[in-house]
Amino acid sequence: MRVATNVTQNLQLDPQGRLRHFLSIEGLPQALLTEILDNAERFVGVGDRAVKKVPLLRGKTVINLFFEPSTRTRTTFELAAKRLSADVMNMNIEMSSARKGESLRDTLRNLEAMHTDMFVVRHQDSGASFFIARQVAPEVSVINGGDGRHAHPTQAMLDAFTIRRVKGGFEDLTVAIVGDVAHSRVARSEIHALKTLGVRELRVVGPATLLPAAIESLGVSVHHVLEDGISGCDVIIMLRLQQERMESALLPSAHEYFRIYGVTEKRLRAAKRDAIVMHPGPINRGVEIDSAVADGPRSVILQQVSYGIAVRMAVMAMIMGRQPE
Ligand code: NCD
Repeated sequence: MRVATNVTQNLQLDPQGRLRHFLSIEGLPQALLTEILDNAERFVGVGDRAVKKVPLLRGKTVINLFFEPSTRTRTTFELAAKRLSADVMNMNIEMSSARKGESLRDTLRNLEAMHTDMFVVRHQDSGASFFIARQVAPEVSVINGGDGRHAHPTQAMLDAFTIRRVKGGFEDLTVAIVGDVAHSRVARSEIHALKTLGVRELRVVGPATLLPAAIESLGVSVHHVLEDGISGCDVIIMLRLQQERMESALLPSAHEYFRIYGVTEKRLRAAKRDAIVMHPGPINRGVEIDSAVADGPRSVILQQVSYGIAVRMAVMAMIMGRQPE
């Protein structure tokens, strides 16, 4: 499915430029991304309260529509909606009538008839959440929880939030995205988000078979040697080898990949002393990342998960036109 940028933008924003759906970072202005981060900042503390709830989405209904496996994204969307006091339903696609031949359009019509206000969609096809956003009634919103290789905008925003919290800003930073960029919706959304937010230098690092052609056109530099790619970096974002999306063998073996591209403590010496290591999860220990790094002092992988709730709360509240206090 092809997704045109101008359509993306128009579909996501209302005529006043407010967020109506959240489908892709591409085409969104810096001010809007900063507003998401600032609002998320106000939601972070909710998780530390004795009563982890604010009433902003009371009476609203959110349906999580996940056609692909997910741990972090589904759970944190559910927690985010619950902490905003919305009613949340998780559709178990395996158990639904989609398995009995019902079309996606018909499934949606039925779920809309239940007066749903918002769908969070994860789908294996690039463009699926755009398709759904075009189908739903005008008062219904769609958030993309990851579509094929295309986009995962809330993951990019929680990564940006983590970077801003730990590093204080974006302008002075050199960031490297390492690994299987070709199959990664996270990498695409991160590149758009970090470029828009003003990161000084953005690099992608990996074997040529795992980097998309013409990726430089997005304003990144390309490196094939890990130590060169992470040299002098402030932030290293690791990606999982997404073997389920590879149509043919693009690598000799996972073991060989680790030998050349696996991030170890020793290799990290090429980066700045205070560099942080990020990963959207699920991590494959001993494939793209060594356990000592994943569990070590530079890793902010679990902070990313916690911040994901606040960022998703911010996006949901903004779409519903609600501001945190
Ligand atoms: C990612 C995804 O599903 O796109 N994970 C996530 O959402 N936290 C990355 C991956 O699958 O490797």
